[in-house]
Amino acid sequence: MASLEVLASDAATPPRNDAAYVFHHPPKFLWHRDEEVPAQRWERYSIYLHVPFCKKICTFCTFERKRLRRGSLANFADHLWRELDLVRARDDFSAAAVHSVYIGGGTGSLLPNADIVRFLRDLRDRFGLSGGAEVTLECEPGTKSAGDYEVLLEAGVNRVSIGIQAFQDDVLRRLNRSHDVAMAVSQVRAAKEAGFENLHIDLMYGLPGQSTRDWEESLDRAIALEVPHISVYPLIVFPDELLDRQLRQGDAPERPSEDAIEEMRETTLRRLEDAGLSRYSLTEYSRPGHACDYVITTWDGSDYLGLGPGAYSRAGGQLWENDVIHAAYERRIAEGLAPVGKSIRMSGEDQLRRDLAMSLCMIDIDTAPLERRAGVSVDTALSAERERLVAAGYLTTRGSRWTLTEAGIRYATEVMKTFAV
Ligand SMILES: C[S@@+](CC[C@H](N)C(=O)[O-])C[C@H]1O[C@@H](n2cnc3c(N)ncnc32)[C@H](O)[C@@H]1O
Ligand code: SF4
Repeated sequence: MASLEVLASDAATPPRNDAAYVFHHPPKFLWHRDEEVPAQRWERYSIYLHVPFCKKICTFCTFERKRLRRGSLANFADHLWRELDLVRARDDFSAAAVHSVYIGGGTGSLLPNADIVRFLRDLRDRFGLSGGAEVTLECEPGTKSAGDYEVLLEAGVNRVSIGIQAFQDDVLRRLNRSHDVAMAVSQVRAAKEAGFENLHIDLMYGLPGQSTRDWEESLDRAIALEVPHISVYPLIVFPDELLDRQLRQGDAPERPSEDAIEEMRETTLRRLEDAGLSRYSLTEYSRPGHACDYVITTWDGSDYLGLGPGAYSRAGGQLWENDVIHAAYERRIAEGLAPVGKSIRMSGEDQLRRDLAMSLCMIDIDTAPLERRAGVSVDTALSAERERLVAAGYLTTRGSRWTLTEAGIRYATEVMKTFAV
């Protein structure tokens, strides 16, 4: 994920659960523009590649993405190879060990096979990627065939994530998705046929015109696909973006009521757990051994290197974002500079605030490693916040082990905003 780091409930008072909140701590207005990021020494880390193109633009989406045009991908790959060289020249990879790779977007699977093969080879040769690491390719239905998947499996991709969202053609059409249900199902089949076992699908609820019956059907059909990982996102309607305008002008059917959305959330937990998929985060369900390493590392404060326009990176207390404006990203690369747009060096307390807020996406966490890394303890810096959450019934604690209660899960944004803005 480039920027959708937290999917949780809205922060209105009284708390609601019908929307979501996306944050970056420290807040973006404190980040510095055009400051060079100091050279980093990478050890255990993950790599994210952002492919910022889509065949069609979905009405709900605010990710860094644009319509695919002729020549976009060749130009993108050309800049990517140069970005890799620039980062390699800036940083020290002598002790680097890649934990996971995620090729996402936009649409990761629009990248031609030859470029994916070359990218992974380069990561192996120069960036510390080795056999055991999880390597995910995010795919939109209709973008790869079984033959493509065979090539990619051979090249080292070992996990495929497919954005299905819903199992009703009319719901998909209204969202301006580029595929229908049949294409989504055959994308899963193609990956299975090629030998992928580690499959992941995305679904969304609270969509315009989606009934509780539609949602139950989507869950049942997703379960029937027998994939070991399902992400389930409550729709976030971003103010003043296309979907918000459509809803306000009556150009999109109404969304389900708040009560219906809450019912969908409860049905999700019940049905997926009954089917043997356990909830391991606010939005992710998996069979044993199939939790996504990449998702976990973006939430638990681990280091990650982001490549491509708008991609985020983190190394200890240093955070940075590649230029989101595609032309600026390309200009910096042409000037021989790593394409960093904004960056910030976090204080120990900021690090702890960010890591607590984001780790709580995992529902059950151990705060001790987060405190050690930040060099700050909850007891000295954030005990009042912790007590407030416990008193509100959102959190239980046993020493450094914290667990969100069901109320804490439902109002997760309230909880996270206690630590971060
Ligand atoms: C980074 S997107 C890219 C996936 C891929 N391009 C696709 O759409 O199939 C990853 C997932 O985030 C979810 N998502 C995107 N926008 C969202 C929104 N406004 N609210 C909730 N979930 C969203 C969708 O489930 C999507 O599959
Ligand atoms: S395909 Fe994925 S990234 Fe592209 S617009 Fe749709 S949701 Fe966003």
